[in-house]
Amino acid sequence: MQQARPPPRGRIVDALELIRSIPELRARRQATTRPVALVPTMGALHDGHLRLIEEAGRLSDEVWVSIFVNPAQFAPSEDLSRYPRPIEADLAACESAGVSVVFNPSPDDMYPPGAVPTQIDVPDLATEFEGAHRPGHFAGVCRVVFKLFSLCQPTFACFGLKDYQQLVVIEALVADLNLPIAIQRVPTVREPDGLAMSSRNRYLGPDARRRAVGLFKALQLARRLIADDGEADPAVVERAMLQTLEAHHIRPDYAAVRHPHSLQPIDSIDRPVVALIAGQLEGVRLLDNAEIK
Ligand code: PAJ
Repeated sequence: MQQARPPPRGRIVDALELIRSIPELRARRQATTRPVALVPTMGALHDGHLRLIEEAGRLSDEVWVSIFVNPAQFAPSEDLSRYPRPIEADLAACESAGVSVVFNPSPDDMYPPGAVPTQIDVPDLATEFEGAHRPGHFAGVCRVVFKLFSLCQPTFACFGLKDYQQLVVIEALVADLNLPIAIQRVPTVREPDGLAMSSRNRYLGPDARRRAVGLFKALQLARRLIADDGEADPAVVERAMLQTLEAHHIRPDYAAVRHPHSLQPIDSIDRPVVALIAGQLEGVRLLDNAEIK
C-alpha cells in the first residue's frame, strides 16, 4: 500500500496541533496545566477510535491522540508494511472530533537506532490468546504504551474493550507500576451486522466480509447459552462457539470462556465471564469478545 507523506512538522490545523517530534511534545506537555486525556492508536481511524476520542472529550478538554504504527508489536511475519496509514484523513477526523494534539512520531523518533530495548511484560495475562498467536506482541504493546504514557503524562487514557486482553494487560501494568493514570474502558463499536470495527476489516473481500459476522454470531450464541439457558460448562459454550466459526468458514485461533479479570480458566460458569474469540478469514485475523453477566 502506498504510504501517505506525513504533513510538515508542527502544522496547526485550526485548533488541532500536529506534533511529530518528542522535544516538541515535551514542550507542549509542559505548557499544559489541564489534565490530558490520551487516546493511543495506530491510525486508520474508524468509528471505534472516534468513540474513544468522544469518551476522552468527556474526561478533559485536552484530548491527545497518538497515531503510531508500532513496529515493536508486529511479529516479522505480520502486516506491518501494509498496515494502512491514511494520515490526512486521520487528521481531518481528529480535527472534527475536537482533538487538541495529534502525536505522530516516526519509528526512528520512538526507537532511535542504537537504543537499548526495555522489556515490560505481564506474563500472567499476556501469554495466552493474542500472546500465543503473536509472539512478542504484548511486550511491544507495553513498551510503546509505557513510552506514550511517559511522554504525554496523561491523567486519563482511553482503551477499547474490542481488544479485551490488551485492555486488561494495560490495566495491570498501570496498577502494578503505580502509574497515576485512570484507564477508561470504552465499549466496542460495531458495524450494523455486528462485526466489530477494525482497521483490518478493510482487507476483507466481499465474501469474507459477509462471513466475518460469524465471530459476532458465535459470541451471541455464547451469551444465549449462558445468560438465557443457564449453561454452566465452559467447554460446551466453547464448542458451540467453534462450531459457529466453522459454519462461517472462519479458521478458529481460539474460542474461550474465562475469568474476566485473570483470564484464567473457570470450572463452572457461576459468575460473570468473558468470551474471547479469534479467527482467520482469507489470511485476515479478526478478534472479538463479549462480557457475559
Ligand atoms: P488500534 O488497533 O489502532 O486501536 C486503538 C484503540 O482503539 C484501542 O484501545 C482499541 O481497543 C480501540 N478500538 C479498536 N477498534 C475498536 C472498536 N471497534 N470499538 C471500540 N474501540 C476500538 O490497539 C492499538 O491500536 C495498539 O495496540 C496501541 C494500543 C495503540 C499500541 O500501539
